[in-house]
Amino acid sequence: MEKFIVHGGSQLEGSVNISGSKNASLPILAATLLTREQCVIRRVPDVSDTNYMLQILQNLGAEVERASGTVVIRCEKLRSHEAPYDLVRKMRASVCVMGPLLARHNRASVSLPGGCVIGDRPIDLHLRGLEGLGAEATVEGGNVHLEARYGLTGKVIDMSGKHGATVLGTDNVMMAAVLAKGTTVITGAACEPEVVDLADFLIAMGAKITGAGTPRIEIEGVSELGGVEHTVIPDRIEAGTFMVAGALAAKDSITLRRVNPEHLTSITEVLRRCGCKVEVSKTTVTVSRAANPVGANITTEPYPGFPTDMQAQMCSLFAVTPGTSVVRDTIFPQRFMHASEMKRMGADITVDDGTAIIHGVEQLSAAPVMASDLRASAALVLSALTAKGNTEISRVYHIDRGYEHIDDKLINLGAEIERLPA
Ligand code: EPU
Repeated sequence: MEKFIVHGGSQLEGSVNISGSKNASLPILAATLLTREQCVIRRVPDVSDTNYMLQILQNLGAEVERASGTVVIRCEKLRSHEAPYDLVRKMRASVCVMGPLLARHNRASVSLPGGCVIGDRPIDLHLRGLEGLGAEATVEGGNVHLEARYGLTGKVIDMSGKHGATVLGTDNVMMAAVLAKGTTVITGAACEPEVVDLADFLIAMGAKITGAGTPRIEIEGVSELGGVEHTVIPDRIEAGTFMVAGALAAKDSITLRRVNPEHLTSITEVLRRCGCKVEVSKTTVTVSRAANPVGANITTEPYPGFPTDMQAQMCSLFAVTPGTSVVRDTIFPQRFMHASEMKRMGADITVDDGTAIIHGVEQLSAAPVMASDLRASAALVLSALTAKGNTEISRVYHIDRGYEHIDDKLINLGAEIERLPA
């Protein structure tokens, strides 16, 4: 296990290249199971979650080669239809092999992922959707077994739940439906850019999909899909995290390259409300620190609303922004593990019922803190950038799950961070 020592007080300048999206890569990698032909996927971030997904695919029979961001996968023959617990427990997104396995094999067996530190993570909507297409689901020994004895058949499938649409649930049903008989209509579909990227990948493979990016996706089943080359979209959450780094610690400004600013609209809007200057070009975003920073009230929402995956990072910004800010997470109301760690650094945060009330203080001070999940860890790194003293952040494997070389990227911008064995 490694830890970071972040020496607070450095000012950031220069530019950073944003990696390909982790959350787009994971279902796209799973979708390669849908064809016997070779797929070439570019800009797959080198993070542990994509490594776990590749291990799962290899376990299922895929041949995988990986070199500097490009992954070549060929799954000529499925060796198994089971994703075992020791891999699934490491990464919840492994549930998105259910759809492709069912589509290709009429069977899937995936260990139930269980809850995680950001809250209860049910998969009832995934199962409801796959059952709607004709699969039968049974749970036994901690595994969910799905079988479509008579194959899958297109239907109208409603994917909306009490917290809104489900991203990976929409992905799973879309991946199952591409090879089903007839037409599937997904209503209440998630509209996230990662769903659109998966749809683009599937369309390039030969799938017939319209409406991705809207709540109504229509899929006409085809009998076969082929190999494809695809470049993954930029990671909007990594980009948002660096935007907050700029808002907190830029000497003047920092520039993010290789981004899609359209995907960053809600984050840009909130940072501007906080007084930051955010300049946008076709593929770059430049963020300057606010001359007169002010707090804000934000509520997480499905895309295009403010992303839950940026909530913790905003808490870091608000912790040192004058005035009172309110952060409400409607998607994962328990996702506030970062708050207690930030309090150890002197933040004034109260969390109740999915809402954090933050009174900005002038400066945080270094303390030993523990990373608890991916975005909470990123928030601690952000807080440590401007804290007084040297912050020790343990369990940084959480951050390595989803940020490609975050320490090196911040060091290139001028931060002082050491990665040490714990
Ligand atoms: N939900 C259900 N039933 C289900 C599925 C989801 O009630 O069957 C609920 C969840 O509990 C939550 C809401 O629906 O309240 C939305 O969850 P969703 O299913 O959309 O989450 P996910 O698809 O499992 C993806 C991202 C998460 C991100 C969420 C929300 C990936 C690999 N993960 O998860 O990313 O927070 O969408 O945008 O795409 C992260 O990157 O740090 C991360 C957690």
